[in-house]
Amino acid sequence: MKKWTGGVLIIGLTCILLVSYYSFIQKQPQKQSSYEFFHPNQQITSKSQNSTTTRPHLVNVDGLDYLFNSTHMPKEEEAKPLLAWGQMRLLLSRSDSLPETAQGIKEAAIAWKELKSKIDETRASKFDHNKVEKNCSFSVSAVNGSVLFPSNDTVILGIPCGLIEDSSITLIAIPDGNQDGFQIEFVGLEGKDPPVILHYNVVLPGDNFTKEPVIIQNTWTYEFGWGKDERCPNHGSTNNVKVDGLVKCNKQLTRSSTDEKSNASNVNDHNHMSSNFPFSDGSLFTATIWAGEEGFYATVNGRHETSFAYREKLEPWLVSGVRVKGGLHIISALATGLPVSEDVDMVMDVEDLKAPLIPKTSKRLLLLIGVFSSGNNFKRRMALRRSWMQYEAVRSGVVAVRFFIGLHKNKQVNFELWREAQAYQDIQLMPFVDYYSLLTLKTIAICIMGTKILPAKYVMKTDDDAFVRVDEILASLKTKTSDGLLYGLVSLDSKPQRDKDNKWYISTEEWPNDSYPPWAHSPGYVISRDIAKFIVRGHQERNLKLFKLEDVAVGIWIKQFKKQIRQVQYINDDRFCNSGCEPNYILAHYQNPRMILCLWEKMQKEHKPDCCD
Ligand SMILES: *[C@@H]1O[C@H](CO)[C@@H](O)[C@H](O)[C@H]1NC(C)=O
Ligand SMILES: *[C@@H]1O[C@H](CO)[C@@H](O)[C@H](O)[C@H]1NC(C)=O
Ligand SMILES: *[C@@H]1O[C@H](CO)[C@@H](O)[C@H](O)[C@H]1NC(C)=O
Ligand SMILES: *[C@@H]1O[C@H](CO)[C@@H](O)[C@H](O)[C@H]1NC(C)=O
Ligand SMILES: *[C@@H]1O[C@H](CO)[C@@H](O)[C@H](O)[C@H]1NC(C)=O
Ligand SMILES: *[C@@H]1O[C@H](CO)[C@@H](O)[C@H](O)[C@H]1NC(C)=O
Ligand SMILES: *[C@@H]1O[C@H](CO)[C@@H](O)[C@H](O)[C@H]1NC(C)=O
Ligand SMILES: *[C@@H]1O[C@H](CO)[C@@H](O)[C@H](O)[C@H]1NC(C)=O
Repeated sequence: MKKWTGGVLIIGLTCILLVSYYSFIQKQPQKQSSYEFFHPNQQITSKSQNSTTTRPHLVNVDGLDYLFNSTHMPKEEEAKPLLAWGQMRLLLSRSDSLPETAQGIKEAAIAWKELKSKIDETRASKFDHNKVEKNCSFSVSAVNGSVLFPSNDTVILGIPCGLIEDSSITLIAIPDGNQDGFQIEFVGLEGKDPPVILHYNVVLPGDNFTKEPVIIQNTWTYEFGWGKDERCPNHGSTNNVKVDGLVKCNKQLTRSSTDEKSNASNVNDHNHMSSNFPFSDGSLFTATIWAGEEGFYATVNGRHETSFAYREKLEPWLVSGVRVKGGLHIISALATGLPVSEDVDMVMDVEDLKAPLIPKTSKRLLLLIGVFSSGNNFKRRMALRRSWMQYEAVRSGVVAVRFFIGLHKNKQVNFELWREAQAYQDIQLMPFVDYYSLLTLKTIAICIMGTKILPAKYVMKTDDDAFVRVDEILASLKTKTSDGLLYGLVSLDSKPQRDKDNKWYISTEEWPNDSYPPWAHSPGYVISRDIAKFIVRGHQERNLKLFKLEDVAVGIWIKQFKKQIRQVQYINDDRFCNSGCEPNYILAHYQNPRMILCLWEKMQKEHKPDCCD
């Protein structure tokens, strides 16, 4: 079924491209907008025109019927987290959808089914919700148990609710000398053939030094098998892209190995090499693998050795177990920094943290702030609720803040998320699983919310690791136009990344032009209501193109708005700090929950936008 859908997608896209290409040749002398490149001969402004041949068509996606079947929807108050969801069907049925849409929807249907039955079960049996499932817990460990002698594919640690940024897994172990190495794997949830989100294969030289010791990192999925492996030492590979600012491969490891190559006959060098290689037979090691912002990185005996960027669809929140194969005697295994939700019953100040009711009769909100978050980021959301969501403008209902969260693949996470949504009334769930490549759909959901559900004069997008000075944003907006506005850290002249290894790689099929129109950086930007409306309508009518970098996508749509509706004011403000915190910030990015609370405290006590570190 999936393959079939994929085929239809590809054929659909090919047709669109062919038609586009044809018209491109015809009209070459004229300047082409990207919009025309994909949708030739079409006038958005005249609805009556019959243009179905050039618009992306609607396809049936596995799981959509289930996700949008109203007989399965909770009723009234309980259905509040599904307000935006209810209006997203068309968006998800497009033949030109984003890459992982079909999978994200199919998996969401499964997750939703499980969540629904859990909700019903709980309703029936009242307080028994903890009985069957494992709770999310901050750490799990296995010490000296029988399970610690893995002979084959043993899952040594179950990760109850996925990994988040700063989660880590530490193994204290001894390579057992009988086999030429071992593999540590972080695996996903699916039964028989779970995806391998990180494969960490340590090859040791063997008895006769017949092999070069090497660390090989990779991923595996049932559909696509192994990915491209990344070796360490990497013999002077030019790929020195860093992950979270850490080298992919420790230089010392590389140097020793290069020496070894040119001195292959010199046996002494094996010792030299072994002393630089962090693992050796019979020697105890302590290895910690961290989940960072952009990838995993490993420290062995206190030294950073390797890092590995997350791959598409293989994100840390999916990890549900640690598996070990090969010759390794494990002394202890510990996973810590894992996501935990705060038990709503134990939170004293729920009423103060709960989103204030916006009465139906009240006129338009001044500002809706949509925050991108993901299922198991419980702690980040609580930090926001206890900090900048306490600004007077938010508490009084002039500004509304809502989290936009896709479903998780883990039952327990979804259930705790559901309880959180019911308790704080500030969560909008999305009818797809939270893959990175689907973020643009959340942007559109925020626009739907800010125009159709909680109509607002301005709509803002931010992230759950950002601190937003709501009062300052409002003060700043007072002096600005309420028509055709894009306000944030605006990039006027940027180019698509054509380097395949780059996180923001865009192919020429996805974006043919050598430059992007102006756009505002993702951690925080504000658009005016007319633009939000244009975005919603454009996607309803399938006149706007989907693009996987959500912030650039908004820029692309705004360029279209400018062409068809009216002038746009791109207002740049350097106080939107894209890459951290700077004094006098209006928005600070990459702030962990502790820093978020610290920034708030500084704001309260010193009334100064100073940074915390
Ligand atoms: C491509 O970029 C140039 C500026 O570099 C711009 O003038 C032109 O309109 C763009 N074309 C498209 C299709 O966006
Ligand atoms: C629109 O296009 C469809 C299919 O190409 C065609 O069947 C229909 O008659 C057209 N409608 C109008 C109003 O032109
Ligand atoms: C919705 O669900 C009900 C009950 O599961 C089923 O009978 C009905 O056919 C479904 N409707 C659609 C449109 O799929
Ligand atoms: C889950 O947490 C609750 C308290 O929040 C506790 O009573 C229960 O025993 C826990 N269940 C498990 C399986 O740890
Ligand atoms: C670990 O297990 C072994 C054998 O099962 C036992 O001899 C040893 O005492 C245990 N060590 C600890 C610290 O429990
Ligand atoms: C591991 O499993 C494979 C396949 O099930 C089997 O062939 C192999 O002998 C097993 N190895 C050990 C050490 O149990
Ligand atoms: C190592 O060398 C010994 C003797 O030279 C040989 O019997 C053995 O097969 C070798 N082992 C490997 C793994 O090559
Ligand atoms: C090879 O080994 C010799 C002595 O063991 C050393 O002096 C030399 O630097 C090595 N070659 C390289 C390229 O490192």
